[in-house]
Amino acid sequence: MGRGRLILIEGLDRTGKTTQTSILTDRLKPNAQLIKFPDRSTTIGKLINQYLTDKNFNLPNQSVHLLFSANRWEVAENIKETLLNGTNVILDRYVYSGIAYSAAKDVDGMDLQWCLNPDKGLLKPDLTLFLTNESNDDAERDGFGEERYENVQFQKKVKKQFYAAFTEFETPNSNTLKLVDVTNKSIEEVSEEIWKLVQPILSNKEENQEFSFF
Ligand code: TYD
Repeated sequence: MGRGRLILIEGLDRTGKTTQTSILTDRLKPNAQLIKFPDRSTTIGKLINQYLTDKNFNLPNQSVHLLFSANRWEVAENIKETLLNGTNVILDRYVYSGIAYSAAKDVDGMDLQWCLNPDKGLLKPDLTLFLTNESNDDAERDGFGEERYENVQFQKKVKKQFYAAFTEFETPNSNTLKLVDVTNKSIEEVSEEIWKLVQPILSNKEENQEFSFF
């Protein structure tokens, strides 16, 4: 039996990541586990949650970045063990969110490489799907929630940084990154598209037993 596959779904706020990661996990059950970042239930996750929901709770940008990364390290071993047991792991956000949201803040010194550094050594997904919604871009009324980062202007910067991070840290032509345009598509249409992209990754389980790392 081959190891499980690590499949990441990334995207801006309101692109349907959470819906799609849970549809995919249900479709693969019992052979899949869903892990969402940030995991707000841990000690570190509770601090992150407070930072995101309370605009008066201030922390240096560098500290926040390190908390998000520490939150991933808290479950890194669990992810590896699950994969070694042959179960697939579906991630809702991961390292690329960490890089893109922090780099979008335009803080001196917090460039892409600085942002990646604390995540170096984490498992790299076998497949990363990036959900993009082009109709978000010019929306006059944003329709976002109340959390920190949820506004059109900041989301545009984040999107740019996602692409910059993919260019910098994904191996070109390796087929480990796919863009999924969700613009004007139904949940079912998007989930079918995702299912088709995931199939080849699951069917070559006997090959590529090695893990890759950031
Ligand atoms: P999330 O709980 O996925 O929010 P939503 O379900 O609304 O998309 O993520 C919360 C916020 O945290 C989101 O704006 C993205 C941000 N974030 C970071 O800034 N760094 C990170 O490493 C991660 C995982 C998320």
